[in-house]
Amino acid sequence: MKKRKAHRPARRPSRATLDAMAALALEARKRAHAPYSRFKVGAALKTRAGEIVTGCNIENASYGLTLCAERVAVFKALSEGLTDFDAIVVAADSKRITAPCGPCRQILWEFCGDLLVHMVNPRGATRTWRLSRLIPLPFDGKNL
Ligand code: THU
Repeated sequence: MKKRKAHRPARRPSRATLDAMAALALEARKRAHAPYSRFKVGAALKTRAGEIVTGCNIENASYGLTLCAERVAVFKALSEGLTDFDAIVVAADSKRITAPCGPCRQILWEFCGDLLVHMVNPRGATRTWRLSRLIPLPFDGKNL
């Protein structure tokens, strides 16, 4: 099995970059297909080189098939050959700021390492955490 290269520590993108990514995530959020939960989420994932790939949640009448915005962004990026990510913005409209769900944290850890997770809502509230704070004792390839 081909092992992925170890992730290099992610440098924190500038405030202007995070703001630009937030605008893209909020735009992507409008494309969410969320007729069941009515909870729309957008994401914008950035490579260290500066490419940005967006995602939105896509639900299904068979609820378990739902894809979260973060995973859509990660899989879109990987399928385009992009790697080496340093930040993701997650945009949702909730009173309590929306952080990635558990499965998305695991997927982000696998493919992005300790990237910056910048969470926003449409009213301008933000929080920024490293993924290692959201998934403090991760299970990963080093365990195997
Ligand atoms: N959802 C996301 O897309 N990302 C998150 O971080 C949290 C949850 C979606 C899944 C589902 O379509 C809806 O939000 C409600 O759970």
